[in-house]
Amino acid sequence: MRQRAAAADLEGSLAQWNPTLAAMPVGRKAAGFALRARLEWPIMDGSNNAQLKILLGVTGGVAAYKAPELVRRLTESGAAVRVVMTAAAQRFVGATTFQAVSGEPVRSDLWDDQAEAAMGHIELARWADVILVAPATANFMASLAAGLANDLLTTVCLASQAPVLVAPAMNQAMWSHPATQANRRVLEGRGVRLIGPAEGDQACGEIGPGRMVEPDDIVAELLRAPPRLVSQLLKGLTVTITAGPTREPIDPVRYITNRSSGRMGYALANAAREAGAKVILVSGPTALATPAGVRRIDVETAQEMFTAVHRHIGSTDIFIGCAAVADYRPEAPAGEKLKRSESSMSLSLVRSADTLVSVAELDDGPFTVGFAAETEHLERHARQKLQAKKLDMIAANEVGRGKGFDAQNNALLVLWPEGRAELARAPKPLLAQRLIDLIAQRYDAWATDDNAEHSA
Ligand SMILES: Cc1cc2nc3c(=O)[nH]c(=O)nc-3n(C[C@H](O)[C@H](O)[C@H](O)COP(=O)(O)O)c2cc1C
Repeated sequence: MRQRAAAADLEGSLAQWNPTLAAMPVGRKAAGFALRARLEWPIMDGSNNAQLKILLGVTGGVAAYKAPELVRRLTESGAAVRVVMTAAAQRFVGATTFQAVSGEPVRSDLWDDQAEAAMGHIELARWADVILVAPATANFMASLAAGLANDLLTTVCLASQAPVLVAPAMNQAMWSHPATQANRRVLEGRGVRLIGPAEGDQACGEIGPGRMVEPDDIVAELLRAPPRLVSQLLKGLTVTITAGPTREPIDPVRYITNRSSGRMGYALANAAREAGAKVILVSGPTALATPAGVRRIDVETAQEMFTAVHRHIGSTDIFIGCAAVADYRPEAPAGEKLKRSESSMSLSLVRSADTLVSVAELDDGPFTVGFAAETEHLERHARQKLQAKKLDMIAANEVGRGKGFDAQNNALLVLWPEGRAELARAPKPLLAQRLIDLIAQRYDAWATDDNAEHSA
């Protein structure tokens, strides 16, 4: 039995957010429209009560003097802003300035008796739709990457589910240092969005990357790509995702595999979980940690993946086949280790089970999304695969020469029977969020059509 999100659920969460949209006619199309509007909401349109709540963290860099201007720009655009300063930030700018421009009390001390009597740091963490840290020092980035919670700002970051954006600002050597770059990668890998830094003259007299992006440009970036709010787009749905490579044994110690790292599938599992889905991740061998809240089932071969997927497909609403499943497997794996005796040998390969096709062919099957990795003619080959395998959607990417497999970043061309979308190159966690949003939209239209067919 499919568990589709009840329209009532969607209406309930909408009512809190926007009564006007919540009052729209009930039905998946209406609810789908409203939720899409939520994601694409011009977040700083102050003309309604769906005001974006931004917690601005200010840390101890020279660029802190620009942060009051940033608060002004954000509040002028209609956002509600509360400021949390680190102790070092107060060496550069006074809290009174921020209080004046934000119209809100400024907090900097985790040990503020009055605020903490009501667990103020948790209240702040829950209040924020978005956490923006600008300027972000090298020290702050390191603390966030390490998961420290030794002052108010880092504690709130750890206690909040809101998306975190950071605008780094530091000396160019600090920015280029391998430690800072490693922290940057850790943060991006967790879905933290970096805005900048920009290049140019620095306060210390040096020239290079490390300048904080100007307040106007930070606001422009927020408007260009609104941060993903914690969403319930997939609430009530079960999403089954395959990820990673498979291993097809040649003998007990050797196997055929491919370059898939599993990163994209794991990022999708995380993004689907963040969107409220129950997630089952059927994974080939990878070195990745299981995303929080995701049920992981480990498999090795294409056949094991097939069996594990079909065990859960009856309760699956959306199936995403992201694993790089071996097309062929050795026909007769040797029972003992093959000896190096002959000058040449040949392996007979046979086609392995195609899990994706088998799911797409099911009569009352889930919304089915496949992946295509192509080295040439991306759109043509992907559209052929979409049609030949009767998929509801396909996400295609170019592979080879450092692209696709085993890379940190990727770009996707997404096709469905009536349309297409291009998702620009981005770290895989961000790309996964965008793809999950798109899947949620298409699923919505598909489920509406499906219901209409069944009631006709
Ligand atoms: C005058 C001065 C300017 C500084 N500017 C920066 C800066 O632009 N970026 C940075 O990462 N650190 C800078 N620092 C170092 C930080 O203030 C220091 O690492 C501090 O511990 C940061 O604390 P916080 O991250 O809790 O705010 C500067 C220090 C001084 C004394």
